[in-house]
Amino acid sequence: MKFTRTLKSFVNFLLPLTSILCTFLFYACTNDNKTVNANYEVVPLPRQIIYQAESNPFVLNKSTRIFYIENDGQSHQLASFLASYINECAGINLQLTTKKDAESIIEFQIDTTLNTNPDYYKLSVTPHNILINGVSASGVFYAIQTLRKSLPVESVNNVSFPAAVIEDYPQFSHRGVSLDVSRHFYSADFIKKYIDVLALFNMNVFHWHLTDDQGWRIEIKKYPNLTKIGSQRSETATDRHSEEYDGKSYGGFYTQEEIKDVVEYARQRYITVIPEIDIPGHTLAVLASYPELGCTRGPYQVGRGWGIFEDVLCAGNDSVFTFLDDVFTEVAELFPAKYIHIGGDECLKNRWMACPKCQARIKALGIRETKAHSAGEQLQSYFIHRVEELINKKGKSIIGWDEILEGGIAPNATIMSWRGTDGGIYAAGRGHDVIMTPESHLYLDYYQSPDVDNEPYTFGWLTDLEKVYSFDPIPVELEKDQQKNILGGQVNVWTEYMPTSKNVEYMLLPRLGALAETLWSYPQEKDYNNFVARMYRQSLLLDKLGYENCKQAYGVQVKCDYDTEKNEIKITLSTFDNAPIYYTLDGTVPTEKSLKYSEPIIISKSSNLKALVVRDGIQSKIYSKEFSFNKATAKPIELKNQPDKKYTFNGAITLVDGQKGYKSSYRTGSWLGFLGEDMVATIKLGDQVSVSSVKLNQFINSRGGLLFAKSIKIEVSDDGKTFKEVHHMGLPVLNCHLKPYTWEIKETFDTVKANYIRVTLKAIEGLPAWHEKAGAKAYIMIDEIVVE
Ligand code: ACM
Ligand code: ZN
Repeated sequence: MKFTRTLKSFVNFLLPLTSILCTFLFYACTNDNKTVNANYEVVPLPRQIIYQAESNPFVLNKSTRIFYIENDGQSHQLASFLASYINECAGINLQLTTKKDAESIIEFQIDTTLNTNPDYYKLSVTPHNILINGVSASGVFYAIQTLRKSLPVESVNNVSFPAAVIEDYPQFSHRGVSLDVSRHFYSADFIKKYIDVLALFNMNVFHWHLTDDQGWRIEIKKYPNLTKIGSQRSETATDRHSEEYDGKSYGGFYTQEEIKDVVEYARQRYITVIPEIDIPGHTLAVLASYPELGCTRGPYQVGRGWGIFEDVLCAGNDSVFTFLDDVFTEVAELFPAKYIHIGGDECLKNRWMACPKCQARIKALGIRETKAHSAGEQLQSYFIHRVEELINKKGKSIIGWDEILEGGIAPNATIMSWRGTDGGIYAAGRGHDVIMTPESHLYLDYYQSPDVDNEPYTFGWLTDLEKVYSFDPIPVELEKDQQKNILGGQVNVWTEYMPTSKNVEYMLLPRLGALAETLWSYPQEKDYNNFVARMYRQSLLLDKLGYENCKQAYGVQVKCDYDTEKNEIKITLSTFDNAPIYYTLDGTVPTEKSLKYSEPIIISKSSNLKALVVRDGIQSKIYSKEFSFNKATAKPIELKNQPDKKYTFNGAITLVDGQKGYKSSYRTGSWLGFLGEDMVATIKLGDQVSVSSVKLNQFINSRGGLLFAKSIKIEVSDDGKTFKEVHHMGLPVLNCHLKPYTWEIKETFDTVKANYIRVTLKAIEGLPAWHEKAGAKAYIMIDEIVVE
């Protein structure tokens, strides 16, 4: 078995080479027109490519024709797509034909009996013909995308397609991407461009998050205020935890005509548009338009800042359900999809608990607080059940975020699991369909490059290409017969920090490619480096098509190891394809004349690393990192209390790794966060090291619970057991909110010789009385400890 597989892969390795050689000889003898080979190894990778080396390649040139069936609109459209893609990539303008009389022909056939997977296709490349067989038109469309992605991205005269048989089909039926158009609004033309790139990567669901606190974006004829008032906000917060606003009114919405146009555009590309009308929370824009639908009846205003809000739809008022019934009637007519997404996430219950109508409803329903579910959660469950019923009556099913599990799941609901995968596992275990979209791996409003100070500002956290690629939608916890309930996965694009469509493209790409392959291929077929190599080639097409896309994964990858015995940092540089890397350590700009990387770089003094990759004669963006050595750097360090799990990352070494915390985000690994406990770090300095100062930074973000520590204490020791205090200082007390910033602490004391130093930041007792979360634990968030 093993031998057969090895032999097969050896033959598969040789065949394309032979084929390429044949093409080369063929053209070397016949003409000198520009000929480039097609490369079927695209993203997502086709399931099986069997090269036919004994056969000549199919040569596509201007005399090639694309066959379509006369008077068959769908056939004509598929042929037109292919022709436009070939023109766009390779600059060859092909004519369509209804006669099979050309020398070389590309044609498609639909045969529903070919496979049980509706998206299956088979591509047979022979010297005079490329034949696409699809189980359905979508299968043919994916074959066309594979051909498109295999084309050279340059103008040529001939494209040589190696003779081969490709068979392909996806693992999952829901391959989704969302876009939040409430926090920021994008034109209908951009939505089409977004759909185009989804199609390029064989995605089949566009989840359109049309409503939220900060703007209602879909025209509803019966409720004109939703767009007249609800689509406009007076201004926008300048940051996540800020009370500063830009003073500029902002708004926009899609007319029903625009929506129909987008839905049809998507349908032609085999993409279903699922609308989301987010209720009962995230509804400030509704309440501003129709205040009578809220518990307090207002006044309300469309959200100007980010986060979640207490004002939600009243669950005790029947006119709310009449309103929703009307809205969903119009929505159901606009969107042919089987599903309507009703949100259901992050609904605060404070207003319901204080509202006479909601309380009367709780009483009438006989709701009692249980250990498992609060009264508010059960009222939410009632709300969602009732909405499900009215949507089911319109012949549609609901999808809801995993909060709709709280208080009891609606009978026919599909769950979109975002707060991790637990909600999805729970629902799938009870027979519900599930779409996995955990924020840990699939939220694209997180950074994709570790160099966060040089990236567009985001919500925080680090979800790089490899992390998205590593995701498996099927949790190990599920039994075999429950796994079929996982319909697939989805990346979510929340847009608080994406004011322009260019920002959206950059955050989407290339991570969309990683999800596309994750949903298409089986886990055992995936190989990250191989994927990056293919994605790099596809990035040329993305560039050509005018999509911003992040290039971080194709540049220098950096890994640091710390030898605390030798007090050295070992820096390993790599690239996905072993392309040459050139570097400097003195901060000068590297060139191809700089040191060529061949083995890990060991540093034991301050260094300013700059490195670049040269690939196909093209230089990458320069990687840059400052390592600053002080008397604590790369020394053994112990923490008395461990950081909070969310903010542990690489642990204690982070505090002596020679690298300052990033200013843009404390959530990507360069800061450690201690929750409600003292930060006590003991560093072994070595033999009688003289010290006279300690410097460190605290990240202050009062709204996020990151406050000043109570005091700083510095102690020294010769044996690491008995410590002597050399400095103790109280730190400022915060009595109102501050904008997030990095606060530098520098404490000096009389020079002392010591083998060990211990730094203690004392935790405050809890968030102060003036804080919204008074009494809750506060964070001490710190970066490098600098000892001099
Ligand atoms: C969500 O991210 N609130 C679904
Ligand atoms: Zn109420």
